[in-house]
Amino acid sequence: MKLEQFQMERMQSTWENLVRYNLSESGVHPATIAELIPDAAQREALLNVELGYSQSNGTPELRRAIAAIYPGATEENVIATVGTAEANFLIAWMLTEPGDDVVMMMPNYMQLWGLVRSFGAELKPLPLVEELQWAPDLDALERAVSPRTKLIAICNPNNPTGSILTEQEMERIVAAARRSGAWLLADEVYRGAELERDITPSFWGSYEKVIITSGLSKAYGLPGLRIGWIVSTPELVANAWSYHDYTTIGPGPASDMLAQVALTPENRARLLKRTRSILNSNYPILEEWAAANDLQFVPPQAGAIAYLRYHLEIGSLELVERLRREKSVLIVPGEHFLMGKYLRIGFGSNAHHLREGLELISSFIEAL
Ligand SMILES: Cc1ncc(COP(=O)(O)O)c(C=O)c1O
Repeated sequence: MKLEQFQMERMQSTWENLVRYNLSESGVHPATIAELIPDAAQREALLNVELGYSQSNGTPELRRAIAAIYPGATEENVIATVGTAEANFLIAWMLTEPGDDVVMMMPNYMQLWGLVRSFGAELKPLPLVEELQWAPDLDALERAVSPRTKLIAICNPNNPTGSILTEQEMERIVAAARRSGAWLLADEVYRGAELERDITPSFWGSYEKVIITSGLSKAYGLPGLRIGWIVSTPELVANAWSYHDYTTIGPGPASDMLAQVALTPENRARLLKRTRSILNSNYPILEEWAAANDLQFVPPQAGAIAYLRYHLEIGSLELVERLRREKSVLIVPGEHFLMGKYLRIGFGSNAHHLREGLELISSFIEAL
């Protein structure tokens, strides 16, 4: 099998912890263990966690806490994974093979793009249209879906645009999946990271063949726990567990325990509020900076990311590479999303850090 490089992750994995200003991240500044567990006595319990093999599909307590987010789901509908990344990987590996079509929302987090093509499936884009505030071209969806469609892959809220589907758009996507019999995969890792509006509706419950992937990395500000999940039919979840035996076996027990803490109703509300507060206090910094630097963008509805269009005589890969080398600032080029003169800038870090990083981008642009 020939593996395509996952360009954005390759760049982030290489540089994100080496640069001075990492503005390539799509989530908010992470919470600490002390913030997650303010009570010192409760924190003590963590010291007694045995570092053995945990229940590999997630402890029943964790699976029940995840199921509680999705009305009607039980622990039988849930497998815990190592990040949303593993959840998506398992689905791609299980479901796609040569001869299959996969319809994928574009632009998107490119993990599935690279994976399903490596597994031999053919990719058909479902474009988001900038002139329509990054709404999906549903006529293109109708044209792309056929009896060969194995999977329709949606990312809602979307990375990199921060756009959110309307309920009518969701219904049309479900109808297209139903017509073709395809599985509908909704990566909802940014659900709960909305700026001004209510929590995004989930695709859960809209169709018998729906698969939700998500995790604690973005809306909860806990990417280092590496906890994600799949929520789907008990049969699909049981099958995913047998694939998971070959990937990671399962999440570690400390992460499982901390994820249970994060998902108590009280802590869940507290973490989502923390994320929203960071997003809303940092967004004006980004907005003002973009206006001052002649960068246009559709305001994101969710996620700590803005997807900006620029007009300079330099390609986005080269711009990002030079910015990193000359200023030690990391952002994501539009070319990583197979697009042209766009930049994805994360605004979820500490405000002073964000301001300094943006200032350096301005001075770099001025010098060009
Ligand atoms: C849409 C989407 N899915 C999955 C992931 C991976 O998330 P995790 O850190 O939970 O593995 C990301 C990370 O940026 C993402 O943007």
